[in-house]
Amino acid sequence: MERAAILGAGFISHSHAEALGFCGIELYAVVDRSEAAAESFASKWGIDNYGTSEAILFDETITTVHICTPPNTHYEIIKRLLDAGKNIICEKPLCFSDEEADELKQLAYEKGLKCAINLNVRYHNMSSKMKELIGQREAFGKVNLIHGKYLQQFHMLPTPYNWRYIPEVSGKMRAVTEIGTHWFDIVQYVTDLKITAVSALFGNFDPKRQVKEGLMYPIDEAKKEAEIVEVTSEDVALIQFKFDNGAIGSVTLSEVSQGYSNYLEYEVTGVNQTAGWNSQSNNELYYNTTNSESNVLRDGFGNGFNDSFQQLIHSFYFANESEISYPTFDEGAEIVHICNAVYESAVNDSKWVQLK
Ligand SMILES: NC(=O)c1ccc[n+]([C@@H]2O[C@H](COP(=O)([O-])OP(=O)(O)OC[C@H]3O[C@@H](n4cnc5c(N)ncnc54)[C@H](O)[C@@H]3O)[C@@H](O)[C@H]2O)c1
Repeated sequence: MERAAILGAGFISHSHAEALGFCGIELYAVVDRSEAAAESFASKWGIDNYGTSEAILFDETITTVHICTPPNTHYEIIKRLLDAGKNIICEKPLCFSDEEADELKQLAYEKGLKCAINLNVRYHNMSSKMKELIGQREAFGKVNLIHGKYLQQFHMLPTPYNWRYIPEVSGKMRAVTEIGTHWFDIVQYVTDLKITAVSALFGNFDPKRQVKEGLMYPIDEAKKEAEIVEVTSEDVALIQFKFDNGAIGSVTLSEVSQGYSNYLEYEVTGVNQTAGWNSQSNNELYYNTTNSESNVLRDGFGNGFNDSFQQLIHSFYFANESEISYPTFDEGAEIVHICNAVYESAVNDSKWVQLK
């Protein structure tokens, strides 16, 4: 019988806990480096086993560990958990370097364990419908163009100063790894195409910022007592792509766009049709045909952000091996490679970088 534990009791861990409840999987333990965070999470979700010690995760009755900690922790703990025979659902990004990603992917194979990366956008109901539509290659035609955006406002100033601005914890990028990862996955998933080359331009609009009482502001000479911090990661990324069938594409990623809590959009143009979806109207998709017809497909029993977690986690625990649809460490590693290629391009004057 499956029994789950969660590492990291912050923002996203609650979506995992809710999804586990939906799936009827016992959430047995929670670990956080903060005793208070672990305790408050345990009390909310009715968990008896909690604390700061990672040893709790290695209880032999626990079959799967959900990793909901910041990215710098993922690589080491995944290796140890795989060695102990635990299945894993890890939050994105899988890890930092291409080498680490390939090693984790290989280790997952060798151990024969279930390993997923939480790229949940593909579990919006309309994602599978888009995949079906685009997959009807004769009707849709060869895919030529894939473009879109992912916009959020969370990093507009003032904003809390936290691990997301510390490269040793979050990695050297921010918009690309936090939101770009989802966009790369969803367009590859619905089109069945692979990104083969990227060219990127980053925008960091306040490299030096000031922090006061936990909040980060633009520099203001009048606030002399504030701590000055350097932020090296991007607020915005503009990325162009080449795909393995010859299609081209682009995406705008922004974490500083007013009015957008969580807006992911993509559009795919084939020879005969153009189809698109966005997360604010997530229960509908549109497709336009060559004779200027525009069609909207609506799902009256659709789903939302937390439902997409439920669907991914349900698929993880209950799908037969032959019908795996959740993103595995293969895809987790692939996304790490794309992120690193994007970075290499951005720091080299947007040169085209081929995916290895
Ligand atoms: N799939 C999604 O849509 C989505 C959304 C948000 C965040 N995330 C990902 O989830 C992960 C966590 O993000 P969050 O927003 O929940 O962050 P958060 O800061 O809200 O929570 C992180 C928690 O991890 C704990 N922690 C940090 N280091 C630890 C360690 N070494 N050992 C044990 N606990 C530790 C912190 O105390 C905190 O409680 C990140 O990888 C992030 O990219 C994914």
